[in-house]
Amino acid sequence: MIASTSAMAAHAREHGYAVPAVNVLDDISLRAVVAAAVEASAPLIVQISVKTVKQLGTELTTTTFRLAAQDAPIPVALHLDHCPDRAVISDVVAAGWSSVLFDASDRDLADAERETCEVVAQAHAAGVDVESEIENIVGVEDGVGSDVALHAYSVEQLADIAKRTGVDLLAPQLGTAHGQYKARPVLLPDRVRRLAELVDIPIVLHGGTGLTAEDFHAFIAAGVSKINISTAVKMAYMKAAADHLDVARAKDKWDPPTMFRQIQGAVTEAIATHIEWFGATGHAAGALAAGVGR
Ligand code: 13P
Repeated sequence: MIASTSAMAAHAREHGYAVPAVNVLDDISLRAVVAAAVEASAPLIVQISVKTVKQLGTELTTTTFRLAAQDAPIPVALHLDHCPDRAVISDVVAAGWSSVLFDASDRDLADAERETCEVVAQAHAAGVDVESEIENIVGVEDGVGSDVALHAYSVEQLADIAKRTGVDLLAPQLGTAHGQYKARPVLLPDRVRRLAELVDIPIVLHGGTGLTAEDFHAFIAAGVSKINISTAVKMAYMKAAADHLDVARAKDKWDPPTMFRQIQGAVTEAIATHIEWFGATGHAAGALAAGVGR
């Protein structure tokens, strides 16, 4: 069933787990992550990067998602990941996606606040949730972002702006980064705790790939209720493809559907592990009963 991102995250917060928010690239990875969530009876947020939606087109992305999610026995939301581009936001809001991440971390504070208010008004009029990012989470994800921390604010500032803009989810800098870690990151679960005392909206952890089960548990205990995973999908996808191609080359046998199945299995396995780490297993029925559908 197609679901609300903020309602699922609120259910997760109340029940001490985090909803897996997984970036997909095509129908193979989409079906792989839905299969992992169905197998675990877990709620799921499917995320699409700006690069992917531009590549596939909004209509094909939306239709492919609907076909994969609408009859699934779990709640599934469709979320636009990191988007600084207002035209893409308008496009997916009109297409009825569950939520968008308006990434205003490249703007100065006054512009970030003003534009976030505009996006919230537009999205809410269409029943679409808004995740907000005004501090930049380090690392470049599908062409969006920066390796340098450009804007950083106090938790009090973040909480005040979240209240003034009326956003539904908040993505602060928590010591994590997108992509593979080159060194062990300094994680900031205390920052989540302090923010959760000041605002009553779900807090989102970005840069999930490479963290341990213990790291996730610490963040969830502090109040995180949506965790983003992208690089783990890309790694599982490409390594399965590479393994398949090694064998295909050696045997001189070329059968794309066999490779697609291998990729799908590898992505499902990678996400199954994260669902378990996030404590999301078995929560689909409870979330549906709590009315997270849209
Ligand atoms: P990773 O690529 O590090 O898993 O981060 C995903 C993310 O935060 C997407 O917004």
